[in-house]
Amino acid sequence: MTDAYPRKKFIAGNWKMHKTRGDVETFFQTFNRLISESGGFSQIAERYDVAFGVPATLFETCEQGVKSTGVRILAQNCHWEAQGAFTGELSVPMLKDAGVHGAIIGHSERRQYNGETNEAVGKKWQALSRGGLLPVICIGESRSEREAGKTEEVLSVQLRETLSQVSKDSLGHDFVIAYEPVWAIGTGLTATPDQAEAAHVFIRRELAELTSKACSEAVRIIYGGSMNPSNARELLGCPNIDGGLIGGASLKAEDFVRILL
Ligand code: 13P
Repeated sequence: MTDAYPRKKFIAGNWKMHKTRGDVETFFQTFNRLISESGGFSQIAERYDVAFGVPATLFETCEQGVKSTGVRILAQNCHWEAQGAFTGELSVPMLKDAGVHGAIIGHSERRQYNGETNEAVGKKWQALSRGGLLPVICIGESRSEREAGKTEEVLSVQLRETLSQVSKDSLGHDFVIAYEPVWAIGTGLTATPDQAEAAHVFIRRELAELTSKACSEAVRIIYGGSMNPSNARELLGCPNIDGGLIGGASLKAEDFVRILL
């Protein structure tokens, strides 16, 4: 690679289980005003792909809100089957029909509270790729795993087991890996740029082995865990940090826009 930053950065909000439709209208009024006051969305789009992962009840209102910008809407989960007796689930064709661009899968909160396994995450990845939607796959170690010196082992197992469900064909479609150390999520503790960069380099190296060198160099590996307007610039300045997945600081339009500007 000759260019140190060959990959366009991907910045996504993850709203988790927050906001009603009324909140969303207010959010995008402010978001769109701030963006237009700062010179319009096109200059942001030159540097970043921007997205919001939102609850399914908000897809339509969000799509209205981001109309005429290049901002994409993501789901926060999906099922791997196209249809069937799976009460409470949403399939990839349904998400496509609702106009979303992709889905965040394997978030640590879903692993923790919904028993999501690497195998299930891999099946979701496969279904999203097959369906033409963008998978944003979250991986990351817990505090005790980091303290026990097992970060790389955990990341490696997560990648290996997840990828065992993904066909070579599907790896030809775009995907994003989100490195989210569980100890940094919603805690105000952020991985230092050095810690995050080291994890991203490791993930890229593993991906080179598990997929191909070309795939590992093209894939965007983004960081999540207490990213905010004060620490984003430094994290995003690291050569292997290709963007951010932002929880708390994406809920307020002012904060999220400050990260983008
Ligand atoms: P916080 O930015 O609130 O730590 O959340 C990160 C996250 O979980 C993004 O998916």
